[in-house]
Amino acid sequence: MNLPIRPRRNRRTAAIRDLVRETELTAAHLIYPLFIHAGTEDQPIESMPGCTRWSVEGLVREAGEAHKLGVPAVVLFPAISNRVKTRDAREAWNAKGLVPRAIKALKAAHPTLTVITDVALDPYNADGHDGIVSDEGIILNDETVVALCKQALCHAYAGADIVSPSDMMDGRVAALRAALDKEGYKDVSILSYTAKYASAFYGPFRGALDSAPKSGDKKTYQMDYANAREAEREAMLDEAEGADMMMVKPATPYLDIIQRLRHTTTLPIAAYHVSGEYLMIKAAAKSGWLDEKKIVLETLTGIRRAGADMILTYFAKEVAKWLK
Ligand code: PBG
Repeated sequence: MNLPIRPRRNRRTAAIRDLVRETELTAAHLIYPLFIHAGTEDQPIESMPGCTRWSVEGLVREAGEAHKLGVPAVVLFPAISNRVKTRDAREAWNAKGLVPRAIKALKAAHPTLTVITDVALDPYNADGHDGIVSDEGIILNDETVVALCKQALCHAYAGADIVSPSDMMDGRVAALRAALDKEGYKDVSILSYTAKYASAFYGPFRGALDSAPKSGDKKTYQMDYANAREAEREAMLDEAEGADMMMVKPATPYLDIIQRLRHTTTLPIAAYHVSGEYLMIKAAAKSGWLDEKKIVLETLTGIRRAGADMILTYFAKEVAKWLK
């Protein structure tokens, strides 16, 4: 054939493919979500095979190993005993609570590790919702935002580097920024869950924390998965309210949202490869149907290619090991 243009020339050798590769996946792009509990044992999580509910001691060890492999940041999710769950979720800002203890232990052991905390009431709420629920079953936006500010301050006092509101209440980013600044925490960043969809992919996570809503669903605050323009609206608001970084969640069914936001914001974008996405790969790998390592690297590279700067993934430590 008389073909002056042959794209295959750029794929001819491994060296040329390296030269022309457009997207990089390294451990430096990963954030490792870790589950913790108040007990002294490290417990395997039934709903999420391969994940552990760590004691604070176990957490420090696991985070240290990941950090040594090049993972720069962890995000903490606490499993809270039912005994201390209340309808006002006040355990969320207990200065002696599990999360502040974990933050202090991590910062003491690994000063260069970036510690991110989740800001939302669901692990502490007897109703299992991210917001405070009225007697009539309504999620109270403005009352919840007041509680979230107390929770974020509690994390900042303990030494959190980044607070990450995952609750989807309106106006929480501006309120958190004002509360943090007023208390002198001008350097604590806000990673906002900007486009968090009401998703069945969170099921295993709620099993891990025993945090499923006691009644109703999360559709009055988390977004309808049929909507994309609405994500841009949330992104404009979060940017104006002072978010430092924004997040899209889940990741793989929402690559178009990541790409859209990449074009509409100059803020860094995180994508959360959530529990259900993790388990789909784990299950297929366990049956011998898919090659876990290859599938994970392709999936995470695809999320980066769509426009994510960073990825929250339960595979973080494993990936860092593979990339060494
Ligand atoms: C709740 C929260 C959820 C996740 C992170 N924070 C669950 C939910 O919104 O119900 C899900 C993470 C995952 O599935 O891996 N604030």
